[in-house]
Amino acid sequence: MRQRKHFLAVGLIFVVVAGLTYLFLSSIYQLPEAASAEAQPIDTLFTAHFGLIAILFALVMVFMVYSVFAFRARPGDDSDGEHFHGNTALEVGWTILPLVAVVVFGVWSAQILRDITDPADHTMTIKVVGRQWSWYFEYPEYDNLRTDTLVLPVDQKINLELTSQDVLHSFWVPEFRVKQDLLPGRSTQLIITPSLIGEFDLACAEICGSQHSYMLATVQVKSQADFDSWVEEQVAAQSNVEELLAMAPEARGEQWYTQYGCNACHSLNGTVVVGPSWQGLFGIERVFADGTTTVANEDYIRESILNPNSHVVEGFNPNIMPATFADTFVADEAKYGGQIMIVEDLIAFIKSLSQ
Ligand code: CUA
Repeated sequence: MRQRKHFLAVGLIFVVVAGLTYLFLSSIYQLPEAASAEAQPIDTLFTAHFGLIAILFALVMVFMVYSVFAFRARPGDDSDGEHFHGNTALEVGWTILPLVAVVVFGVWSAQILRDITDPADHTMTIKVVGRQWSWYFEYPEYDNLRTDTLVLPVDQKINLELTSQDVLHSFWVPEFRVKQDLLPGRSTQLIITPSLIGEFDLACAEICGSQHSYMLATVQVKSQADFDSWVEEQVAAQSNVEELLAMAPEARGEQWYTQYGCNACHSLNGTVVVGPSWQGLFGIERVFADGTTTVANEDYIRESILNPNSHVVEGFNPNIMPATFADTFVADEAKYGGQIMIVEDLIAFIKSLSQ
């Protein structure tokens, strides 16, 4: 009768302590929000581990602490405790149960690992390259588009092929849960199925030198429609740059002539529209409103485009030509990867009109 009372008490305390331990563990080890299909089974495993840890902790601590208090020696009791040797049922029990628990967790984890690393039916491959201390990404299925932000379509199984240009790095987006090392001279693989639209941080998780902690990149998960238009934009911009670089400077200048609206005010046939015609302009003498003169060389044309009010040719009015081209060009040149100087192309084009 007394024994049943003890077991009932221990059982109750055990349930309470196990529950509290579980709550405590899951509150101090909170995971970031889950943003990939691969995160779900991993989070389930975490939950199960927390549960198991809570049960084991409560089992050991509650039995021990309860025994210390409930079975302590009463005052004046100097007799030896009851002597017994072994309890076969208990020993078999505490051997079998942990064995079963470890095997179950082992098999379960192996299944999850197999599932979340299975590349079957992936819809896209993206190359991830790490180096001291930055990342870049290549999309072989989209003209080898190269970016420094990893942009992914939501709910698509993505196959990442990772490699390093120097030392070991590690690809880690905590919200995706999965993690993979990058090795020089070898390709490793990581499967990710983003499940949440948003922006996440990619960090390097392998110490790789003095700037390791700055080896970060942005991961953007977009809807399929947004991803498609992003790809289209990027591919167009990239092929545009290649095309532009292949052109002669004066040919590019001719393109800028219409693109930036120079043609609205400057003719190419000698007609004066609003501003001077560009025909035969290069190399001639210019007379300004204040009576000074200069030769229309490269420096003069550059100044006239970027800072149009600095010298106004006699017969023309100031403040007609927009003074914003300097800023516009700087911004647009950045889009072309800084490999093109728009104003130099325009000078080359104007020069060619005088030959
Ligand atoms: Cu790359 Cu740490």
